Amino acid sequence: MEKFMAWIDARFPATKMWEDHLSKYYAPKNFNFFYFFGSLALLVLVNQILTGIWLTMSFTPSAEEAFASVEYIMRDVEFGWIIRYLHSTGASAFFIVVYMHMFRGLLYGSYQKPRELVWVFGMLIYLALMAEAFMGYLLPWGQMSYWGAQVIISLFGAIPVIGDDLTMWIRGDYLISGITLNRFFALHVIALPIVILGLVVLHILALHEVGSNNPDGVDIKKHKDENGIPLDGIAFHPYYSVKDIVGVVVFLFVFCAIVFFFPEMGGYFLEKPNFEQANPFKTPEHIAPVWYFTPFYAILRAVPDKLLGVIAMGAAIAVLFVLPWLDRSPVKSMRYKGWMSKIWLLVFCISFVILGVLGVLAPTEGRTLLSQICTALYFAYFILMPFYTRMEKTKPVPERVTG
Ligand code: HEM
Repeated sequence: MEKFMAWIDARFPATKMWEDHLSKYYAPKNFNFFYFFGSLALLVLVNQILTGIWLTMSFTPSAEEAFASVEYIMRDVEFGWIIRYLHSTGASAFFIVVYMHMFRGLLYGSYQKPRELVWVFGMLIYLALMAEAFMGYLLPWGQMSYWGAQVIISLFGAIPVIGDDLTMWIRGDYLISGITLNRFFALHVIALPIVILGLVVLHILALHEVGSNNPDGVDIKKHKDENGIPLDGIAFHPYYSVKDIVGVVVFLFVFCAIVFFFPEMGGYFLEKPNFEQANPFKTPEHIAPVWYFTPFYAILRAVPDKLLGVIAMGAAIAVLFVLPWLDRSPVKSMRYKGWMSKIWLLVFCISFVILGVLGVLAPTEGRTLLSQICTALYFAYFILMPFYTRMEKTKPVPERVTG
């Protein structure tokens, strides 16, 4: 075995990569609950790719046959039902895990110097993930697949001058048709997964270049032992690789319970109108995207003008990219930031959840007003950040991690 590894290592940096990223990657010893979600995101990504490959084996990407081929997978293909539910539940699980992962970033200032690129790559993953989920949702060719795509693609029509041509270019037809389904299939099963996988590699390389942050936001590289190993660091493997397995087991219990007992999740994971085949002549009474898009959908609807609504929705995502440069606090972790940062983070999270709920519901006058207030608070969190993070009094950060 030793000889074999020496042979490999002389030709490929296998041992070096193992050591750099696992057995000699020293991570802070005080990781908590929120640090499970990075490895869980990797797990869900693998689940999506594997179940996606097997779904593709029995799915037919044409307007005539797509809907029936999903029913065929559910009823006739051996274990087809579980493969499909693992994939459809996996999509929602992906967003739950990624939202928790991003929240951790906000909580501990993980986006701050020197991890700006880790965050930016993360945001690019998030964008690609949204595109991936949106295109995947058209494939079963149900009513909500069709009309959801109709609403979102028509938003591009609000762009002045090029709007109409652009929507036609995206659809490849005068209306959403089998041509659109075919290109979304190609993008969903091959183009975007490659992009996402590539970005995940860049995300982790960028993180390992600078090292992980931690709930205290202190730099563990400041205090090293005589061998140059951080005093507050422990080797990722075996310590965190084993710890992460505990997270995986707990996650899989919850995930499997949903897959086996509530795969539709009351219409939130699989929407009810999608059990009916797409019909271009019949608009569903109420069109709502899947839950993970609804906060942004609510922002879109909060603005009365279509173009301004589209701009607000785009800005709501774009502003997250520049977060590392909006936070001017001398400390990273919420543990040592002042009360203004704490309150604004709370306001932001509550607004985001309320917008998510409003995005599912049909609009009324009262709900539109509430969504306008929450949209304003959503943006205020970011716009005011350079001011409140500089003005507030922070607590002294300890030299070493507190555990
Ligand atoms: C497919 C999706 C993603 C995967 C597989 C992934 C994977 C990971 C992994 C394995 C880590 C190291 C473990 C950990 O700190 O939890 C990590 C760290 C990090 N990720 Fe992600 N990530 C994803 C999406 C995102 C997104 C959308 C963002 C934010 C926009 C993000 C921001 C971060 C940050 C800031 C860190 C460093 C955290 C720290 O050191 O405190 N990630 N990611």
